[in-house]
Amino acid sequence: MSELLKDKIERLRAEAQNLHANTAEEVEALRQKYLSKKGDVSLLFEDFKALAKEQKAQWGASVNQLKQQFESQIKQMREDMEAKVQTIAYKEDLTRTPDSIGLGARHPLSLVREQIINIFSRIGFTVADGPEVEDDKHVFGMLNFAPEHPARDMQDTFFVEKEEGVQKPTDILLRTHTSSVQTHAMIQWAKQLQSATCNLQPATCETFQPLRILCPGRVFRNEAISARAHCFFHQVEGLYVDKNVSFADLRQALLYFAKEMFGPDTQIRLRPSYFPFTEPSAEMDISCDLCGGKGCAFCKGTGWVEILGCGMVDPNVLESCGIDSKVYSGYAFGMGVERIANLKYRVKDLRLFSENDVRFLEQFESC
Ligand code: DAH
Repeated sequence: MSELLKDKIERLRAEAQNLHANTAEEVEALRQKYLSKKGDVSLLFEDFKALAKEQKAQWGASVNQLKQQFESQIKQMREDMEAKVQTIAYKEDLTRTPDSIGLGARHPLSLVREQIINIFSRIGFTVADGPEVEDDKHVFGMLNFAPEHPARDMQDTFFVEKEEGVQKPTDILLRTHTSSVQTHAMIQWAKQLQSATCNLQPATCETFQPLRILCPGRVFRNEAISARAHCFFHQVEGLYVDKNVSFADLRQALLYFAKEMFGPDTQIRLRPSYFPFTEPSAEMDISCDLCGGKGCAFCKGTGWVEILGCGMVDPNVLESCGIDSKVYSGYAFGMGVERIANLKYRVKDLRLFSENDVRFLEQFESC
């Protein structure tokens, strides 16, 4: 008797593994087959009742387990089926309100880049573009980096093989900064100056246009990728060349930018620095907007955070591009878009900007 019961239990266990139904009716049929009064599992209990006492102790748990297994599986199938039916009904309901369309969000770097461009376009700057694959001349040489100048070591450069397998020496490289666009723009502007027919007095010559450009773009550096550094990032370069451009003009333009970008209470501070292509050079800090300049963990207790490099275009740079440095002067500045975005949105890990994780990007939907 108990042997027979054992066979039945094993057969039903195997059947429990393979329960399958496509419709609610099929689920109900399974319930009837196994769990109704005359169902296979219920009949098992009839067999069980007829067992001797000690055998009951041996088989009781198995029979109960089997019953519970069928009950819970059939319950789950019924719930799945109801959900499926509801989904179909929902989809087929032509009167329902349509699902809202998931609109994409602007990338935070695009938002910030456009904000920078908007701010400077209000004071006459226009956007200029340049190549990402450059030559040494435009990225370093004409920007006053002497061949053995230690400043070249400031930037680890990706060189591009001219012929497959032939590495250095090559003068083709991925630009390490958008200052290279300055070089192209100044050469172009110098050519226009030469071909102009008037005497190029800004006040009297209608064809004279000062050079006032903003160069947004991607730059590349041979750095290990981490939360604080990446092998590519974005910069916006600014350049203004005209007669009588002064450091005061630079300071005023940057103060205007800082207040527009970070709020009217923002203060700026210029610290002397060094760049080969500007003289004098400076780094600009803004007052920390987290602590209002009092000093906090974010600004390392100083009350200031660095945001860009700037300076007066070095006369050597003007001359190398064909501009008479005795007649014209200019200022330049360059900033990292990720740096500005970090300050605005407090993004702690740089890698988030290029990983395209929608959970990160969705947070900028309302910006
Ligand atoms: N090119 C510099 C860099 O990548 C940034 C910079 C500093 C640009 C000073 C400028 C400038 O135009 O005047 O670090």
